[in-house]
Amino acid sequence: MSRALLEIEDLTVAYRSEDGRVTTAAEGVTLSLDRGESLCVVGESGSGKSSVAMSVARLLPSPPAFWPKGRILFDGEDVLAMDVARLRELRGRRIGVIFQDPMGSLSPLHRIADQLVETVFLHERMAKASAREFAVEWLGKVGVDDPARVARAYPHELSGGQQQRVMIAMAMMLGPDLLVADEPTTALDVTVQKQILALMRGLVGEKGALLMITHDLGVVSEMATKLAVMKDGRVIETAADVREFFRRPQHPHSQALVAEARKMELE
Ligand SMILES: Nc1ncnc2c1ncn2[C@@H]1O[C@H](COP(=O)(O)OP(=O)(O)OP(=O)(O)O)[C@@H](O)[C@H]1O
Ligand SMILES: [Mg+2]
Repeated sequence: MSRALLEIEDLTVAYRSEDGRVTTAAEGVTLSLDRGESLCVVGESGSGKSSVAMSVARLLPSPPAFWPKGRILFDGEDVLAMDVARLRELRGRRIGVIFQDPMGSLSPLHRIADQLVETVFLHERMAKASAREFAVEWLGKVGVDDPARVARAYPHELSGGQQQRVMIAMAMMLGPDLLVADEPTTALDVTVQKQILALMRGLVGEKGALLMITHDLGVVSEMATKLAVMKDGRVIETAADVREFFRRPQHPHSQALVAEARKMELE
């Protein structure tokens, strides 16, 4: 049997606080994603979406995070069992990650260009000048207005929307097989959002895959080839046919989500 690019099997994600209390953020999550597919995950705040998505590249600080149960297979390899060196090889090159909080992947201490160049150098042999040019070019692609100026700036000198675009460039520029995107376009205006969603569709093409969290059902209908709804840490509904999901959501909670989105559309 051929294996999907990403297989999450019966995953539990939990956090242990300093005083030993355990919060279970996700439980029994099973999802798979193959090349050419875009899986959108929706669900109310606190339902465990980021906990699952960030586990895929093991980007949750651990402690407090731990995974008492389940497996995450990326191209057949168990991410939860990998050593740090192997994880570093995968991140950026094969798995690109867009965080919900842009500062999650930007260092406050270094100029934007240097951070992008650093990411390139981790994975590719390239002359410094070419890497810089490549980075600035990507800033343009993700809709940064004055890429040369932004390249010279420090993260705190940028708006939230600019930081978000920089992070998107960083996650996408090396053409990863899997892009994990946690609310990637929230701070962006509609034109830039469209531009970035188009870049993402290009990346997915036939060989890539997208795991995207979004609360925007418009983005879901534009992007998703399949969908999962989470509530209270569990996947309560999956749909392989997204249009059918919008016509006939099964779970009462999904019905409420769709009804709410319809109402907002009409307002
Ligand atoms: N570092 C942490 N320590 C303890 N609990 C945490 C931690 N991070 C998240 N949680 C808890 O795990 C649960 C799931 O959180 P998560 O961030 O995965 O939800 P989410 O679906 O991404 O929400 P949102 O839509 O608001 O981003 C929540 O109850 C949250 O309070
Ligand atoms: Mg989240």
